[in-house]
Amino acid sequence: MTRREWLRRAAGTVVAAGLPALFGRRAGALAKRRHGNPDNITGRGSLASRAAARGMLAGAAVDTRLLRTDDTYRQVLAEQYNILVGENCMKFGATQPRPETYYFNDADGLVSFAESNGMKVRGHNFVWHEALPEWFAGTVTKENAEKILVDHIMTVGGRFKGRIHSWDVVNEAIWIPDGRPDGLRSSSPWFQMLGPDYIDFAYRTAREADPKALLTYNDYGIEYDNGEEAKKRAAVLDLLKRMKAAGTPIDALGVQSHLNAASTSGFGSGLRELLDGARSLGLQVFVTELDVKDDGLEVDDVAKRDEAVAGVYRDYLGRMLEGREVKAVLTWGVSDAHTWLNGAKWREKHPDREQRPLPFDDQYSPTPAFFALRESFDNAKRR
Ligand code: XIL
Repeated sequence: MTRREWLRRAAGTVVAAGLPALFGRRAGALAKRRHGNPDNITGRGSLASRAAARGMLAGAAVDTRLLRTDDTYRQVLAEQYNILVGENCMKFGATQPRPETYYFNDADGLVSFAESNGMKVRGHNFVWHEALPEWFAGTVTKENAEKILVDHIMTVGGRFKGRIHSWDVVNEAIWIPDGRPDGLRSSSPWFQMLGPDYIDFAYRTAREADPKALLTYNDYGIEYDNGEEAKKRAAVLDLLKRMKAAGTPIDALGVQSHLNAASTSGFGSGLRELLDGARSLGLQVFVTELDVKDDGLEVDDVAKRDEAVAGVYRDYLGRMLEGREVKAVLTWGVSDAHTWLNGAKWREKHPDREQRPLPFDDQYSPTPAFFALRESFDNAKRR
């Protein structure tokens, strides 16, 4: 991207957010101050541009409150990414706050921001055991659960039909501690209302709601080489295999990738298994929620902690992007200032320290993780 294009794009961002076009110049200056020389990490130096050079997408989860209120945040999004996902705004509880009422302001804002900046959007998610609205427990029964599921998927999926790159149709359906041989999370209200068939049913409904979206199964705890994650990985692959064999429409595996800088396990044969498994089923793979927590590290020095986090980005993505079926890498947030890992619980315990799991620090300056992420795109083969 030329500098002129970059500025035009920056200005477009601000216009899209409903502010006067003049602000585009200010936003450019702001970025310069925050990033030092913007040309180092913007334009051809951006994550989006390096990912695109290898046929991939680079993205982040978006907090819609910041999207409305924070100029620099919008600027960084527009500069760095070519795909976005709502951190919370498309979840069940957010989109259907009452049984008869849907709420789309936040999700609409995200989708139109992305579109006006030429970016794609992931949908996250239709079916999960969390983020359910308050009315859910008292209203949903075995008798009406199927109708509620269909209404929800058809309404939310229909709202954004043709505009979503990929939908996480079912999120986190495997939970080994529930003790079933197939690993399904039998404690999920969806399982309890509808039995194991709720999964295939949700995918068939999603295909009808938005035939163009890549239908994705998304889960976590399947990345590391250790016994516990190996079990979950196998159960996820079995589920996908069974769905494919049944003719259920599914196109992709989402690997959340919430990683841990203090983990004693590494990456290797497990990721190969996951990638081989996905490839043999004809599925694409997306890294959907990458971040690296650093709370278990025993060093206090911030530079050393940052290096450890960046090292995990490098190791993990180095292996993961060997798989040409991996088409997108999204981090779960943009700046350390807003990561879910520094939520209320964390701050209560550690008022003096924040975790630094993301590619930008709390001043929106790139962290070592940014450069590790960018290098991982550079080192990957074209797909
Ligand atoms: C998290 C959000 O980041 C938080 O803001 C929210 O309070 C809880 O959910 N796996 C997922 C995401 O699929 O939806 C979760 O997001 C993080 C774990």
